Formats: sequence, C-alpha cells, structure tokens
Amino acid sequence: MDLADTFGRVATDLRVSLTDRCNLRCTYCMPAEGLPWLPSERMLTDDEIVRLVGVAVRLLGVTEVRLTGGEPTLRPGLADLVGRIAALRPRPKLSLTTNGLSLARLAAPLRAAGLDRVNVSLDTLDPVRFAQITRRDRLGDVLAGLRAAAASGLAPVKVNSVLLRGVNDDEAPSLLRWSLAEGYELRFIEQMPLDAQHGWRRSTMVTAGETLAALGAAVTLRPLPGRGSAPAELFEVDGGPGRVGVIGSVSAPFCAACDRVRLTADGQVRNCLFAREESDLRTALRAGADDEQLAQLWQAAVRGKHAGHGIDEVAFRQPDRPMSAIGG
Ligand code: GTP
Ligand code: 5AD
Ligand code: SF4
Repeated sequence: MDLADTFGRVATDLRVSLTDRCNLRCTYCMPAEGLPWLPSERMLTDDEIVRLVGVAVRLLGVTEVRLTGGEPTLRPGLADLVGRIAALRPRPKLSLTTNGLSLARLAAPLRAAGLDRVNVSLDTLDPVRFAQITRRDRLGDVLAGLRAAAASGLAPVKVNSVLLRGVNDDEAPSLLRWSLAEGYELRFIEQMPLDAQHGWRRSTMVTAGETLAALGAAVTLRPLPGRGSAPAELFEVDGGPGRVGVIGSVSAPFCAACDRVRLTADGQVRNCLFAREESDLRTALRAGADDEQLAQLWQAAVRGKHAGHGIDEVAFRQPDRPMSAIGG
C-alpha cells in the first residue's frame, strides 16, 4: 500500500502538527491576541499520534516524519513522543520545524530521544526588528537555541527566513553571511496566503527573484541540480561549500513534485497545505477503526489531492485554517 494520488505523485513525507499554539505572534502569521486554540478534547493524544504515525510508516510507505506546530516545543513531553516515533519500524527520518525559543533547553534531550535534525525560523538578526516581527523580544533565545541545536549534533541545522517588504527585505546578504559563518543552511521563503488575518497580497510579497537579485549583488550564486521533491531551490555560494536555498512556493510552485501529506493536531489528514477539504482520522480512530481501516481512509484522502495550490487562479480561496493550525 502507498499514498498515491491521481497525478502520479506518492506521499512519503508526513508533516505532523503537534499543536496550533505558539509563543510568538509573527505579524504575517497571527494577530497579536492569538487565535481561538483547538480544544484539548479534539487534540490527538501522544498514543493516538504514535498509532497514526505507525500506520503511516508500516502500512503506507511514509519514510520521513516532520514535527511542526504552531510551535511544536510547546507540547508537553515532546522528547518522549520523539522517542516513541523514533522507535517505530521501519524507523522514519525525524525532523522538527520550530521557532527555536526552547531549543537551548530541548535540543540535547530531543537529539538523545532520536530527533535527526531541526529547521529554525529566524527572519532578522536585529533585536528591534525581531520584536517588531514576532511581537516578542526574544532574539537572544533563538540564537542560543540555534547554537544548542548545532552543539547537540542535530544536522544539518536549517534556518528559514521570510522577507517582508519594508521590514527586513534589506537583510538577505547579512542573514546569508551570518548563516555561512555559523554553519547553518539558510533558506528564504516566499510569503504564502496562509495568514490568519487574510492580509497577504501578491503585490507586496518579496519574490524569490528579488531575493536572488539581492543576494547576487553580494555573493556569486551557482544553481545546484538535484532538487527532487524539496521545496528549496539550492545555490552554491562563492564557489562553495556554503549554500543557500530559496523556496518560491508562489512564483515557482513545486506542486508537481510534491511528496507531502499532513496530519493536523486534531487528527485531520490534509493532502495539501492549501487543501480546502480534510479527512477525519480522529473520529474513526476513536470509534475503534483498525490499522487497515485507518490506512484505507488515509489513502482515499491522498487520492483526492489536486494538481496544485492554484494561488494564481481567480477562484483561489485561502484555506479556512491558518498556517499555524496546519503546520507549515
Ligand atoms: P526540509 O526537508 O528540511 O527541506 O524541509 P522543508 O523546507 O520542507 O520544511 P520547513 O518546515 O522548514 O518549511 C519551510 C517552508 O516550506 C515553510 O514556509 C513551509 O510552509 C513550506 N512548505 C513546506 N511544505 C510545503 C508544501 O508542501 N508546499 C508548499 N507550498 N510549501 C511548503
Ligand atoms: N508564508 C510562508 N512562510 C510562512 N511561515 C509562516 N507563515 C508563513 C507564510 N504565510 C514560515 C515560518 C517558518 C516556516 C515553518 O513557515 O516563518 O519558518
Ligand atoms: Fe509561531 Fe511560526 Fe506563526 Fe511565527 S510563523 S507565529 S513562529 S507558528
């Protein structure tokens, strides 16, 4: 059994959202007051998550598991959960996408529990801008978290930056120089229409092309082949070995090569970041479905996947859930 769709793609990369909450309030993601969080009775328990991820790796061919949020480190007992997922057979590759605030404390225990690598969000190196973008004065915690991640042997350590026009769009070269010096792999992400406030406008988005032009004025970039299904297009910097990535989800969609499927914190399968339909595994699970039945529901959910996100189509409508409740 596998997770094939009708366009010849097979999902092998499962992104699991562990919570919709976050301890930052990035302006391009959430309003200052936060959002109505999922009620606890609808959230999957650790046992339920391990059960579903187990079905995915044993019966459905999933080989990579990414833990996301909201902010996944807000989930109590995260290291235990990582340990239980790492103990599944066949063992999936296991990574975490985090804002980094808690990594100074958690990187070592997560590594010891079996986490392979982390991606950390960081949009600026200026503390005043950091507080402006995230509405919290915590740049120092992220930097400490990044150092702890590298020191714990989580590798590679990737840094995700979203450039915002008139806010931090002059920082591409300085973020790159800093990442190269620290040994982190930097990727710039085009802002997508997934904010809770529905404030995204294509006209104000900093495009991958603009980012590459800004970087190209400071360093020499050479495109690297072999992107495969990865969202990031990679470039060698100044003859290598340093690299930088650009994730052009909007201006250069990579949907045709997508190998992803998502599970929300409340147990819904989403076959795309931008899907407008979800498939409810939680209700089936709690009603006593066996592994085979859960696998079949999951397969049907992926079979319904559309060819692409359709952001450029007139009929495009943002999904009802914001990014923070989908898990990036
Ligand atoms: P790596 O395996 O480490 O390269 O992970 P990644 O870059 O796929 O994951 P990460 O969680 O760091 O996400 C980086 C950015 O890519 C975020 O803005 C995600 O929302 C975006 N992204 C991840 N998966 C998809 C996807 O399936 N489609 C689109 N359009 N964007 C995605
Ligand atoms: N578009 C693109 N990236 C986003 N992120 C959060 N919201 C958006 C958006 N609307 C980024 C975060 C983090 C990653 C998981 O997704 O900055 O790095
Ligand atoms: Fe939190 Fe990530 Fe959203 Fe920022 S982008 S508020 S770190 S979920």
